Amino acid sequence: MKSFYLETFGCQMNVVDSEQITALLQEIGYQPIDAPDLADLVLLNTCSVRDKAERKVYGHLGRFKPIKDKRPQLIIGVGGCVAQQEGQRMLDAVSYLDLVFGTHNIHRLPEMVQQVEQTRQRASETDFLDRETRLNLFPERSASESATRFVTIMQGCDNFCSYCIVPHVRGREISRLSAEILNEIEALVAAGVKEVTLLGQNVNSYGCKNDGELSFPQLLAAVDAIPGLERLRFATSHPKDITAELIDCFGRLESLCPQVHLPVQSGSDRILALMNRGYDAADYLDKVRRLKAVCPQIRLTTDIIVGFPGETEEDFQATLDLVAQVRYADAFTFLYSPRVETAAASMPDNASARQKQQRFDRLLTLQQRISGEIWQEDAGKILPVLVEGASKQGEGQLFGRSVWNRIVNFSGPPELIGQVVPVAINKVLRNSHLGEYQNNC
Ligand code: 5AD
Ligand code: SF4
Repeated sequence: MKSFYLETFGCQMNVVDSEQITALLQEIGYQPIDAPDLADLVLLNTCSVRDKAERKVYGHLGRFKPIKDKRPQLIIGVGGCVAQQEGQRMLDAVSYLDLVFGTHNIHRLPEMVQQVEQTRQRASETDFLDRETRLNLFPERSASESATRFVTIMQGCDNFCSYCIVPHVRGREISRLSAEILNEIEALVAAGVKEVTLLGQNVNSYGCKNDGELSFPQLLAAVDAIPGLERLRFATSHPKDITAELIDCFGRLESLCPQVHLPVQSGSDRILALMNRGYDAADYLDKVRRLKAVCPQIRLTTDIIVGFPGETEEDFQATLDLVAQVRYADAFTFLYSPRVETAAASMPDNASARQKQQRFDRLLTLQQRISGEIWQEDAGKILPVLVEGASKQGEGQLFGRSVWNRIVNFSGPPELIGQVVPVAINKVLRNSHLGEYQNNC
Protein backbone atom coordinates (compact mmCIF):
# COMPACT_ATOMS: atom_id res chain seq x y z
CA MET A 1 0.00 0.00 0.00
CA LYS A 2 1.38 3.44 -0.94
CA SER A 3 1.10 6.36 1.47
CA PHE A 4 0.98 10.15 1.35
CA TYR A 5 1.75 12.92 3.82
CA LEU A 6 -0.26 16.14 3.34
CA GLU A 7 0.30 19.43 5.16
CA THR A 8 -2.35 22.15 4.90
CA PHE A 9 -1.80 25.89 5.44
CA GLY A 10 -4.22 28.81 5.48
CA CYS A 11 -7.96 29.12 5.46
CA GLN A 12 -10.91 26.75 5.62
CA MET A 13 -11.06 26.66 1.81
CA ASN A 14 -7.68 24.95 1.83
CA VAL A 15 -8.86 22.53 4.52
CA VAL A 16 -11.79 21.53 2.30
CA ASP A 17 -9.48 21.26 -0.74
CA SER A 18 -7.23 18.98 1.31
CA GLU A 19 -10.19 16.71 2.05
CA GLN A 20 -10.76 16.47 -1.69
CA ILE A 21 -7.05 15.80 -2.31
CA THR A 22 -7.19 13.02 0.29
CA ALA A 23 -10.25 11.41 -1.34
CA LEU A 24 -8.70 11.59 -4.84
CA LEU A 25 -5.41 10.06 -3.69
CA GLN A 26 -7.23 7.26 -1.87
CA GLU A 27 -8.93 6.42 -5.18
CA ILE A 28 -5.52 5.69 -6.70
CA GLY A 29 -4.39 3.57 -3.76
CA TYR A 30 -2.61 6.07 -1.49
CA GLN A 31 -3.37 6.11 2.25
CA PRO A 32 -2.74 9.14 4.49
CA ILE A 33 0.05 8.96 7.11
CA ASP A 34 1.49 11.45 9.60
CA ALA A 35 5.19 10.77 8.99
CA PRO A 36 6.79 12.40 5.92
CA ASP A 37 9.90 10.24 6.24
CA LEU A 38 7.79 7.10 5.64
CA ALA A 39 5.59 8.49 2.85
CA ASP A 40 5.75 7.71 -0.89
CA LEU A 41 4.21 11.09 -1.68
CA VAL A 42 4.58 14.39 0.22
CA LEU A 43 2.25 17.31 -0.57
CA LEU A 44 2.00 20.87 0.74
CA ASN A 45 -1.33 22.68 0.27
CA THR A 46 -0.20 26.31 0.54
CA CYS A 47 -1.59 29.76 1.38
CA SER A 48 -0.32 33.10 0.07
CA VAL A 49 -2.69 35.56 1.75
CA ARG A 50 -0.17 37.08 4.16
CA ASP A 51 3.36 37.07 5.49
CA LYS A 52 6.27 35.85 3.50
CA ALA A 53 4.25 32.94 2.19
CA GLU A 54 6.34 32.02 -0.84
CA ARG A 55 9.57 32.10 1.11
CA LYS A 56 8.02 30.00 3.87
CA VAL A 57 6.94 27.34 1.38
CA TYR A 58 10.45 27.13 -0.05
CA GLY A 59 11.76 26.85 3.53
CA HIS A 60 9.27 24.11 4.32
CA LEU A 61 10.17 22.14 1.21
CA GLY A 62 13.77 22.12 2.39
CA ARG A 63 12.76 19.77 5.21
CA PHE A 64 11.91 17.09 2.68
CA LYS A 65 15.16 17.27 0.73
CA PRO A 66 17.13 14.92 3.04
CA ILE A 67 14.28 12.39 2.76
CA LYS A 68 14.35 12.60 -1.03
CA ASP A 69 18.17 12.29 -0.98
CA LYS A 70 17.78 8.99 0.87
CA ARG A 71 14.76 7.81 -1.15
CA PRO A 72 14.85 9.32 -4.66
CA GLN A 73 11.55 7.60 -5.58
CA LEU A 74 9.72 9.90 -3.11
CA ILE A 75 7.32 12.23 -4.99
CA ILE A 76 7.08 15.81 -3.66
CA GLY A 77 4.30 18.19 -4.73
CA VAL A 78 2.95 21.65 -3.97
CA GLY A 79 -0.65 22.83 -4.44
CA GLY A 80 -2.81 25.74 -3.31
CA CYS A 81 -2.38 29.49 -3.64
CA VAL A 82 1.44 29.72 -3.68
CA ALA A 83 1.54 26.97 -6.32
CA GLN A 84 -1.02 28.90 -8.38
CA GLN A 85 1.05 32.06 -8.14
CA GLU A 86 4.49 30.55 -8.72
CA GLY A 87 3.68 27.69 -11.14
CA GLN A 88 6.62 26.49 -13.22
CA ARG A 89 8.93 28.89 -11.32
CA MET A 90 8.75 26.52 -8.35
CA LEU A 91 9.95 23.58 -10.43
CA ASP A 92 12.78 25.73 -11.77
CA ALA A 93 13.80 26.81 -8.28
CA VAL A 94 13.52 23.49 -6.43
CA SER A 95 15.36 20.65 -8.15
CA TYR A 96 13.79 17.91 -5.98
CA LEU A 97 10.18 19.08 -6.51
CA ASP A 98 8.10 16.84 -8.82
CA LEU A 99 4.63 18.37 -8.99
CA VAL A 100 2.96 21.78 -8.92
CA PHE A 101 -0.85 21.99 -9.13
CA GLY A 102 -2.96 25.16 -9.01
CA THR A 103 -6.22 25.95 -7.23
CA HIS A 104 -8.34 24.90 -10.26
CA ASN A 105 -6.36 21.74 -10.97
CA ILE A 106 -6.91 19.54 -7.92
CA HIS A 107 -9.01 17.09 -9.98
CA ARG A 108 -5.92 16.47 -12.15
CA LEU A 109 -3.79 15.34 -9.22
CA PRO A 110 -4.35 11.55 -9.59
CA GLU A 111 -3.22 11.61 -13.24
CA MET A 112 -0.31 13.90 -12.47
CA VAL A 113 0.91 11.62 -9.66
CA GLN A 114 0.58 8.53 -11.84
CA GLN A 115 2.45 10.26 -14.63
CA VAL A 116 5.34 11.09 -12.31
CA GLU A 117 5.31 7.52 -10.94
CA GLN A 118 5.56 6.06 -14.44
CA THR A 119 7.78 8.51 -16.30
CA ARG A 120 9.61 10.41 -13.54
CA GLN A 121 8.86 13.53 -15.62
CA ARG A 122 8.10 16.59 -13.47
CA ALA A 123 4.69 18.25 -14.01
CA SER A 124 3.08 21.66 -13.45
CA GLU A 125 -0.59 22.58 -14.10
CA THR A 126 -1.89 25.96 -13.03
CA ASP A 127 -4.36 27.03 -15.73
CA PHE A 128 -7.61 28.61 -14.59
CA LEU A 129 -10.64 26.72 -15.88
CA ASP A 130 -13.78 28.14 -17.46
CA ARG A 131 -17.02 28.42 -15.52
CA GLU A 132 -18.74 25.38 -16.99
CA THR A 133 -15.83 23.07 -16.29
CA ARG A 134 -15.49 24.38 -12.73
CA LEU A 135 -19.21 23.98 -12.03
CA ASN A 136 -18.82 20.27 -12.73
CA LEU A 137 -15.80 19.99 -10.48
CA PHE A 138 -17.22 20.95 -7.12
CA PRO A 139 -16.27 17.90 -5.10
CA GLU A 140 -18.84 15.33 -4.11
CA ARG A 141 -18.15 14.89 -0.42
CA SER A 142 -19.11 11.81 1.49
CA ALA A 143 -20.54 11.77 5.00
CA SER A 144 -18.14 11.60 7.93
CA GLU A 145 -18.28 10.77 11.61
CA SER A 146 -18.22 14.42 12.61
CA ALA A 147 -21.16 16.45 13.91
CA THR A 148 -20.08 19.59 12.07
CA ARG A 149 -19.21 20.09 8.42
CA PHE A 150 -18.09 22.84 6.06
CA VAL A 151 -19.94 22.94 2.74
CA THR A 152 -18.47 24.98 -0.11
CA ILE A 153 -21.15 27.08 -1.82
CA MET A 154 -18.96 29.33 -3.94
CA GLN A 155 -15.34 29.82 -4.84
CA GLY A 156 -13.17 32.67 -6.07
CA CYS A 157 -13.66 36.39 -5.67
CA ASP A 158 -14.39 39.33 -7.97
CA ASN A 159 -13.92 42.09 -5.41
CA PHE A 160 -10.25 42.90 -5.92
CA CYS A 161 -9.64 44.56 -2.58
CA SER A 162 -6.40 46.36 -3.27
CA TYR A 163 -4.30 44.39 -0.74
CA CYS A 164 -5.63 40.93 -1.52
CA ILE A 165 -4.08 38.12 -3.54
CA VAL A 166 -7.21 35.90 -3.48
CA PRO A 167 -8.81 37.03 -6.79
CA HIS A 168 -5.42 36.47 -8.45
CA VAL A 169 -4.87 32.95 -7.11
CA ARG A 170 -8.43 31.61 -6.77
CA GLY A 171 -9.86 33.15 -9.94
CA ARG A 172 -13.29 34.55 -10.70
CA GLU A 173 -16.27 34.03 -8.45
CA ILE A 174 -18.45 31.01 -9.18
CA SER A 175 -21.48 29.76 -7.23
CA ARG A 176 -22.37 26.13 -6.95
CA LEU A 177 -25.93 25.14 -7.92
CA SER A 178 -28.31 25.41 -4.96
CA ALA A 179 -29.96 22.06 -5.76
CA GLU A 180 -26.58 20.33 -5.35
CA ILE A 181 -25.79 22.18 -2.13
CA LEU A 182 -29.16 21.25 -0.63
CA ASN A 183 -28.78 17.59 -1.67
CA GLU A 184 -25.36 17.45 -0.07
CA ILE A 185 -26.58 18.96 3.19
CA GLU A 186 -29.63 16.68 3.32
CA ALA A 187 -27.31 13.68 2.94
CA LEU A 188 -24.96 15.01 5.63
CA VAL A 189 -27.83 15.57 8.07
CA ALA A 190 -29.21 12.08 7.35
CA ALA A 191 -25.75 10.74 8.26
CA GLY A 192 -25.78 12.55 11.63
CA VAL A 193 -24.29 15.99 10.91
CA LYS A 194 -25.90 18.61 13.19
CA GLU A 195 -24.11 21.78 12.14
CA VAL A 196 -23.18 23.10 8.71
CA THR A 197 -21.01 26.11 7.85
CA LEU A 198 -21.57 27.43 4.32
CA LEU A 199 -18.20 28.34 2.95
CA GLY A 200 -16.89 30.73 0.30
CA GLN A 201 -14.64 33.75 -0.14
CA ASN A 202 -17.66 36.02 -0.23
CA VAL A 203 -20.73 33.93 0.58
CA ASN A 204 -23.25 36.75 0.56
CA SER A 205 -22.78 37.41 -3.14
CA TYR A 206 -23.80 33.75 -3.63
CA GLY A 207 -25.93 33.15 -6.72
CA CYS A 208 -26.12 36.73 -7.90
CA LYS A 209 -24.18 35.92 -11.07
CA ASN A 210 -26.33 32.85 -12.01
CA ASP A 211 -29.67 33.56 -13.71
CA GLY A 212 -32.63 32.18 -11.76
CA GLU A 213 -30.50 31.00 -8.84
CA LEU A 214 -31.47 31.48 -5.19
CA SER A 215 -30.04 34.52 -3.43
CA PHE A 216 -27.89 33.91 -0.37
CA PRO A 217 -30.72 34.68 2.09
CA GLN A 218 -33.00 32.33 0.12
CA LEU A 219 -30.33 29.62 0.27
CA LEU A 220 -30.01 30.13 4.04
CA ALA A 221 -33.78 29.76 4.43
CA ALA A 222 -33.79 26.56 2.33
CA VAL A 223 -30.93 25.07 4.39
CA ASP A 224 -32.64 26.13 7.64
CA ALA A 225 -35.75 24.21 6.53
CA ILE A 226 -33.87 20.87 6.33
CA PRO A 227 -35.28 18.80 9.22
CA GLY A 228 -32.66 17.66 11.73
CA LEU A 229 -30.14 20.45 11.03
CA GLU A 230 -29.59 22.18 14.36
CA ARG A 231 -27.02 24.83 13.58
CA LEU A 232 -26.20 26.87 10.51
CA ARG A 233 -23.27 29.27 10.09
CA PHE A 234 -21.51 30.91 7.15
CA ALA A 235 -18.10 32.39 6.37
CA THR A 236 -16.89 34.77 5.06
CA SER A 237 -19.18 37.66 4.28
CA HIS A 238 -18.37 41.02 2.75
CA PRO A 239 -19.97 44.00 4.55
CA LYS A 240 -20.95 45.67 1.26
CA ASP A 241 -23.12 42.65 0.36
CA ILE A 242 -25.00 42.40 3.67
CA THR A 243 -28.58 43.09 2.55
CA ALA A 244 -31.71 43.87 4.56
CA GLU A 245 -32.99 40.41 3.58
CA LEU A 246 -29.86 38.80 5.03
CA ILE A 247 -30.11 40.82 8.24
CA ASP A 248 -33.71 39.60 8.62
CA CYS A 249 -32.51 35.98 8.49
CA PHE A 250 -30.87 36.49 11.90
CA GLY A 251 -34.28 37.32 13.34
CA ARG A 252 -36.25 34.50 11.77
CA LEU A 253 -34.17 31.40 10.91
CA GLU A 254 -34.12 29.11 13.88
CA SER A 255 -30.92 27.21 13.11
CA LEU A 256 -28.88 30.30 12.13
CA CYS A 257 -26.37 30.87 14.95
CA PRO A 258 -26.25 34.42 16.37
CA GLN A 259 -22.72 34.93 15.14
CA VAL A 260 -21.22 36.60 12.09
CA HIS A 261 -17.70 37.16 10.87
CA LEU A 262 -17.73 40.55 9.17
CA PRO A 263 -14.23 41.69 8.18
CA VAL A 264 -14.04 45.48 8.49
CA GLN A 265 -10.29 45.82 7.68
CA SER A 266 -10.12 49.50 8.79
CA GLY A 267 -12.24 52.14 10.50
CA SER A 268 -10.93 54.98 8.32
CA ASP A 269 -13.01 56.00 5.29
CA ARG A 270 -9.89 57.15 3.48
CA ILE A 271 -8.17 53.77 3.97
CA LEU A 272 -11.35 51.82 3.16
CA ALA A 273 -11.52 53.69 -0.17
CA LEU A 274 -7.84 52.93 -0.87
CA MET A 275 -8.58 49.29 -0.02
CA ASN A 276 -11.46 49.29 -2.55
CA ARG A 277 -13.84 47.88 0.03
CA GLY A 278 -17.03 49.48 -1.28
CA TYR A 279 -18.34 50.79 2.08
CA ASP A 280 -17.42 53.43 4.62
CA ALA A 281 -17.39 53.25 8.40
CA ALA A 282 -20.92 54.71 8.67
CA ASP A 283 -22.36 52.06 6.27
CA TYR A 284 -20.63 49.34 8.23
CA LEU A 285 -21.80 50.62 11.61
CA ASP A 286 -25.34 50.94 10.30
CA LYS A 287 -25.36 47.26 9.26
CA VAL A 288 -23.96 46.24 12.65
CA ARG A 289 -26.66 48.27 14.40
CA ARG A 290 -29.39 46.59 12.32
CA LEU A 291 -27.94 43.11 12.96
CA LYS A 292 -27.93 43.81 16.70
CA ALA A 293 -31.49 45.15 16.50
CA VAL A 294 -32.93 41.99 14.89
CA CYS A 295 -30.77 39.65 16.98
CA PRO A 296 -29.70 41.25 20.28
CA GLN A 297 -27.56 38.24 21.32
CA ILE A 298 -25.48 38.35 18.11
CA ARG A 299 -21.70 38.39 18.50
CA LEU A 300 -19.49 39.71 15.75
CA THR A 301 -15.94 38.86 14.82
CA THR A 302 -13.76 40.65 12.29
CA ASP A 303 -10.46 40.92 10.42
CA ILE A 304 -8.40 44.12 10.61
CA ILE A 305 -5.29 45.11 8.70
CA VAL A 306 -2.89 47.45 10.52
CA GLY A 307 -0.32 49.50 8.61
CA PHE A 308 -1.98 49.61 5.19
CA PRO A 309 0.10 51.90 2.88
CA GLY A 310 -0.41 55.54 3.87
CA GLU A 311 -2.24 54.78 7.14
CA THR A 312 -1.80 57.80 9.46
CA GLU A 313 -2.23 58.00 13.22
CA GLU A 314 -5.63 59.60 12.55
CA ASP A 315 -6.69 56.71 10.29
CA PHE A 316 -5.56 54.23 12.89
CA GLN A 317 -7.46 56.11 15.61
CA ALA A 318 -10.61 55.72 13.49
CA THR A 319 -10.04 51.95 13.55
CA LEU A 320 -9.70 51.97 17.34
CA ASP A 321 -12.91 54.04 17.60
CA LEU A 322 -14.83 51.63 15.38
CA VAL A 323 -13.56 48.61 17.33
CA ALA A 324 -14.64 50.24 20.60
CA GLN A 325 -18.06 50.99 19.13
CA VAL A 326 -18.80 47.59 17.57
CA ARG A 327 -17.36 45.60 20.50
CA TYR A 328 -16.27 42.50 18.59
CA ALA A 329 -16.16 39.20 20.44
CA ASP A 330 -12.90 38.48 18.61
CA ALA A 331 -10.80 40.22 15.99
CA PHE A 332 -8.11 38.71 13.80
CA THR A 333 -5.54 41.44 13.38
CA PHE A 334 -2.85 41.43 10.73
CA LEU A 335 0.10 43.63 9.85
CA TYR A 336 -0.23 44.65 6.22
CA SER A 337 2.05 42.66 3.94
CA PRO A 338 2.42 43.59 0.26
CA ARG A 339 1.34 40.90 -2.20
CA VAL A 340 2.61 40.71 -5.78
CA GLU A 341 0.15 41.75 -8.50
CA THR A 342 -2.07 43.66 -6.05
CA ALA A 343 -2.83 47.38 -6.41
CA ALA A 344 -1.73 48.26 -2.86
CA ALA A 345 1.75 46.83 -3.42
CA SER A 346 2.68 49.97 -5.38
CA MET A 347 0.98 52.52 -3.10
CA PRO A 348 3.27 54.92 -1.21
CA ASP A 349 3.86 53.97 2.40
CA ASN A 350 5.27 56.32 5.04
CA ALA A 351 4.82 54.65 8.42
CA SER A 352 7.83 52.79 9.81
CA ALA A 353 7.74 49.11 10.77
CA ARG A 354 8.08 50.22 14.41
CA GLN A 355 5.07 52.56 14.18
CA LYS A 356 3.02 49.79 12.59
CA GLN A 357 4.00 47.32 15.28
CA GLN A 358 3.06 49.83 18.00
CA ARG A 359 -0.35 50.38 16.40
CA PHE A 360 -0.81 46.64 16.14
CA ASP A 361 -0.03 46.24 19.86
CA ARG A 362 -2.44 49.05 20.83
CA LEU A 363 -5.23 47.45 18.81
CA LEU A 364 -4.52 44.07 20.35
CA THR A 365 -4.65 45.51 23.89
CA LEU A 366 -8.01 47.16 23.21
CA GLN A 367 -9.46 44.07 21.55
CA GLN A 368 -8.26 41.72 24.28
CA ARG A 369 -10.00 43.88 26.89
CA ILE A 370 -13.27 43.86 24.89
CA SER A 371 -13.05 40.12 24.12
CA GLY A 372 -12.41 39.41 27.81
CA GLU A 373 -15.49 41.41 28.81
CA ILE A 374 -17.76 39.77 26.22
CA TRP A 375 -16.72 36.17 26.91
CA GLN A 376 -16.91 36.81 30.65
CA GLU A 377 -20.67 37.38 30.16
CA ASP A 378 -20.96 33.58 29.69
CA ALA A 379 -19.60 32.78 33.15
CA GLY A 380 -22.21 31.13 35.38
CA LYS A 381 -24.63 30.53 32.49
CA ILE A 382 -25.85 27.19 31.18
CA LEU A 383 -25.20 27.14 27.43
CA PRO A 384 -26.21 24.62 24.79
CA VAL A 385 -23.03 23.00 23.47
CA LEU A 386 -22.77 20.83 20.36
CA VAL A 387 -20.32 18.13 21.44
CA GLU A 388 -17.74 17.51 18.72
CA GLY A 389 -15.43 14.92 20.27
CA ALA A 390 -12.88 13.93 22.89
CA SER A 391 -10.90 16.90 24.18
CA LYS A 392 -7.11 17.05 24.29
CA GLN A 393 -7.45 18.18 27.92
CA GLY A 394 -7.34 14.59 29.19
CA GLU A 395 -9.18 11.34 29.92
CA GLY A 396 -13.01 11.67 30.02
CA GLN A 397 -12.88 15.24 28.70
CA LEU A 398 -15.06 16.33 25.80
CA PHE A 399 -15.14 19.49 23.73
CA GLY A 400 -17.84 21.25 21.80
CA ARG A 401 -18.94 24.73 20.79
CA SER A 402 -21.47 27.25 21.95
CA VAL A 403 -23.73 28.97 19.41
CA TRP A 404 -21.05 31.70 19.31
CA ASN A 405 -18.51 29.16 18.11
CA ARG A 406 -16.59 29.29 21.37
CA ILE A 407 -14.81 26.07 22.36
CA VAL A 408 -16.15 24.61 25.62
CA ASN A 409 -14.21 21.83 27.40
CA PHE A 410 -16.00 19.72 30.01
CA SER A 411 -16.09 16.18 31.35
CA GLY A 412 -18.78 13.77 30.23
CA PRO A 413 -19.44 10.36 28.69
CA PRO A 414 -18.51 9.79 25.02
CA GLU A 415 -22.18 9.06 24.18
CA LEU A 416 -22.72 12.83 24.23
CA ILE A 417 -20.61 13.27 21.09
CA GLY A 418 -22.81 14.55 18.27
CA GLN A 419 -25.52 15.94 20.59
CA VAL A 420 -26.39 19.43 21.78
CA VAL A 421 -26.20 19.31 25.59
CA PRO A 422 -26.46 21.87 28.43
CA VAL A 423 -23.13 22.87 29.95
CA ALA A 424 -22.66 25.25 32.89
CA ILE A 425 -19.77 27.63 32.18
CA ASN A 426 -17.47 27.68 35.22
CA LYS A 427 -14.40 29.37 33.91
CA VAL A 428 -13.65 31.72 31.03
CA LEU A 429 -10.14 31.32 29.64
CA ARG A 430 -8.57 33.44 26.90
CA ASN A 431 -9.59 31.18 24.00
CA SER A 432 -12.05 28.72 25.47
CA HIS A 433 -14.48 28.00 28.29
CA LEU A 434 -14.34 25.31 30.95
CA GLY A 435 -17.71 23.90 31.94
CA GLU A 436 -19.69 21.19 33.63
CA TYR A 437 -22.23 18.97 31.89
CA GLN A 438 -25.74 19.40 33.38
CA ASN A 439 -27.26 15.95 33.10
CA ASN A 440 -30.34 16.91 35.14
CA CYS A 441 -31.53 19.69 32.79
N1 5AD B 1 -1.77 41.88 4.35
C1 5AD B 1 -2.29 41.68 5.59
N2 5AD B 1 -3.46 41.06 5.80
C2 5AD B 1 -4.14 40.62 4.72
N3 5AD B 1 -5.31 39.97 4.61
C3 5AD B 1 -5.55 39.74 3.31
N4 5AD B 1 -4.55 40.22 2.55
C4 5AD B 1 -3.66 40.79 3.41
C5 5AD B 1 -2.42 41.44 3.25
N5 5AD B 1 -1.90 41.66 2.03
C6 5AD B 1 -6.17 39.66 5.75
C7 5AD B 1 -7.52 40.38 5.64
C8 5AD B 1 -8.44 39.26 5.29
C9 5AD B 1 -7.81 38.08 5.99
C10 5AD B 1 -8.24 36.74 5.51
O1 5AD B 1 -6.44 38.27 5.76
O2 5AD B 1 -7.83 40.94 6.90
O3 5AD B 1 -9.78 39.49 5.73
FE1 SF4 C 1 -9.80 39.26 -0.78
FE2 SF4 C 1 -11.54 41.30 -0.72
FE3 SF4 C 1 -12.14 39.02 -2.05
FE4 SF4 C 1 -12.07 39.00 0.63
S1 SF4 C 1 -13.50 40.18 -0.64
S2 SF4 C 1 -11.15 37.46 -0.76
S3 SF4 C 1 -10.41 40.45 1.04
S4 SF4 C 1 -10.51 40.48 -2.56
